[in-house]
Amino acid sequence: MKKTTGYAAAAAALIFAGCAGPGQEMFGDRPLSEVLDALTLEQKVNIVVGGVRGADNPPYPAPGMPVRGSDGVTANLASGRVKGASAYGYSVDSLGIPVVTYSDGPAGVRIDSVREGDTLTYYCTAFPTGSSLAASWDTAAVRAIASAIGNEAREYGVDVLLAPGINIQRNPLCGRNYEYYSEDPLLAGAIGSAYVCGVQSNNVGVSVKHFAVNNQETLRNGIDVSVSDRAMREIYFRAFERVVRNAAPWTIMSSYNKINGVLASENKWLLTDVLRGEWGYGGAVITDWWAEENGARQQAAGNDLLMPGSRHQYDEVWEGLENGSLTEAELDRNVANILRLTARTNAFAGYRYSDRPDLDAHAMTAREYGSAGMVLLENDGVLPLDAGVTVALFGNAAYDTFVGGTGSGNVNRRYKVNIDEGLEDAGYSLYEPVAVAYREYTVSKLAEMGGGNFWWMPDVPEMPLDGKSVSDALEKSDVAVFVLGRMAGEGADRLLAEGDYYLDRIERENMSAIVRAAHSHGKKAVLLLNMGGVVDLEDCPRFDAVLHVWLPGQEAGHCAADVVSGKVNPSGRLPMTWAAEYDDYPSSGDFPLSDGSDRQVVYSEDIYVGYRHFEKSGIKPLYPFGYGLSYTSFGYDGLEIRRRGGMYTASLTVTNTGQTAGREVVQLYVSTPGTLEDRPLKELKAFCKTPVLRPGESCMADMSFLMDDLAVWMDGGWHVEKGEYKVYAGSSSSDIRLTGTFRVR
Ligand code: BGC
Repeated sequence: MKKTTGYAAAAAALIFAGCAGPGQEMFGDRPLSEVLDALTLEQKVNIVVGGVRGADNPPYPAPGMPVRGSDGVTANLASGRVKGASAYGYSVDSLGIPVVTYSDGPAGVRIDSVREGDTLTYYCTAFPTGSSLAASWDTAAVRAIASAIGNEAREYGVDVLLAPGINIQRNPLCGRNYEYYSEDPLLAGAIGSAYVCGVQSNNVGVSVKHFAVNNQETLRNGIDVSVSDRAMREIYFRAFERVVRNAAPWTIMSSYNKINGVLASENKWLLTDVLRGEWGYGGAVITDWWAEENGARQQAAGNDLLMPGSRHQYDEVWEGLENGSLTEAELDRNVANILRLTARTNAFAGYRYSDRPDLDAHAMTAREYGSAGMVLLENDGVLPLDAGVTVALFGNAAYDTFVGGTGSGNVNRRYKVNIDEGLEDAGYSLYEPVAVAYREYTVSKLAEMGGGNFWWMPDVPEMPLDGKSVSDALEKSDVAVFVLGRMAGEGADRLLAEGDYYLDRIERENMSAIVRAAHSHGKKAVLLLNMGGVVDLEDCPRFDAVLHVWLPGQEAGHCAADVVSGKVNPSGRLPMTWAAEYDDYPSSGDFPLSDGSDRQVVYSEDIYVGYRHFEKSGIKPLYPFGYGLSYTSFGYDGLEIRRRGGMYTASLTVTNTGQTAGREVVQLYVSTPGTLEDRPLKELKAFCKTPVLRPGESCMADMSFLMDDLAVWMDGGWHVEKGEYKVYAGSSSSDIRLTGTFRVR
């Protein structure tokens, strides 16, 4: 057995070496140490406790001291320009420390779109949400989207974007799964890295969140996650580790929850020993918003910035300094990290932001990539729909399409394109009586239910349909399309109940009536799923095609129509396993759906999350991890595995063997040598999305991974087992086309 050092801290140290330079570390044109020395203790304590403190909210004075000095006041007031930003840092004008502006979020910048007394507007583009990005398996697309988000942040004066959320989708009910990427850490880490690089290419920082094991919203402020070291290392930390190593995020956001009894934001082992010590992270750590337990403990643990900052945290930091639970050296370390972060920002560079990002160009980016993640789950050939046919379009979400989720992942967008509009723009006619009835119904229901708020968006109950009108509609239309929508978001988990995870009675009845009527008139019925995750489809009648469109951003209707019409050949693949039944999920017995009395959640499935569990237990899912159909077919040929130093590369030839141009996602899984017990049957180690291949065209798929990626966590360390490893190249985790082996000596 070989012991590895884990991911090389040296690599990350190199990435951050740019901050320091060969000689003295600078803060603009002054040595950073000089700036640090020039700060009073009071200013330092203000710096680590975030928040605008202007004239109405002055700098916190030292305990017992009157409010004094104007440092921070002017600039802080000016910073109020970015209305709706999530928080601001503390500024010290005399030392050239500007206000740093922090804002959500993952699917686009979340700031107020209108400002009192201002005729200008500040809309942001709503891009596809996390699960949709991950389903694209397309790091170039994610990078392009994130680059546009970063550009909007920069042009609106936001210095640090509070994204991406890369927590593992442990259970389908997590309310924030729509913001997160995958059940698999490699996919989450690869998509997360692309996102970070895209945003940061604008000189806008990110805050990769929520570190760590924040996989449920129930009791999120302080729920105690009991999880093994092995599961933490191999599943829950690995995406973070990858992003830290590959993309050097400017900040990491600690999570609200406890991990084995200790709050993440007060967890020195997590934030200092693992993140910085083992992974060599050189950026700043910030708390999640209002994660307030004890400011001094958070500071001592290595949580540099307490956001958005409160008076009691400020007092606790002082108390800590007085009673010795926080040393001045620790405080200085944290202030230095915040200064380093500040020195990288556009605010520090004096960037004159325009408040005028190119929203039209970004709308085209949202359109171009919004379909990249759409997953074709079933198709008997009805899709793509013939041009110009008449569609009987059912379902509220067709007329009021969900384009994003609730909470901090929401975006104040300029507009959205509903699916009905998208289909019409693509040249389809909608069967009018159905369209009129739904439009009237959704408009009146929405007016009744109200416009929604930060935590909640109206999720209109389905309109009961009568069999006769459904039958008439299908007689006079060419095809039926039903859109099933689900909303979810921050602050609450989804419900294991009808109308959420399960279909409700009206949905079941409507869908059955539609499929029956379509078939009795010799027509086809298509189901579109408009949600950030999965639903139970056991009671769903058999549609002739099923397309998952996710929450694809403001261009939703156009993107869905692009795939429905065949303008875009679907190339998304599931980033999570879709179980036939909820109980098949390994975490189903341990997901905190409690009434609030149980403040602990035990991750008893250990590393067997998602496909690792389904494969090991021999449970057949409804749709496996990595699954998705195409309008064409692909052949795989000639798998070869080469090793160069610590890197392995698997290569094979992919050929479009069908009649339509399209893209394939080649997935590479590896199993450890048989000598190791208690291991998943195989794990994703690399993947590759081909360019568009014309019929008959081939390309090479090269997929690389490091020796360190083979390491498993055993006896308190990473080990790479010697012996023969098996490689599986496939179109999904269960559709393996080629196998090979390589040996580690
Ligand atoms: C969320 C974070 C978000 C922050 C600021 C918190 O409630 O958990 O994801 O970035 O608020 O809005």
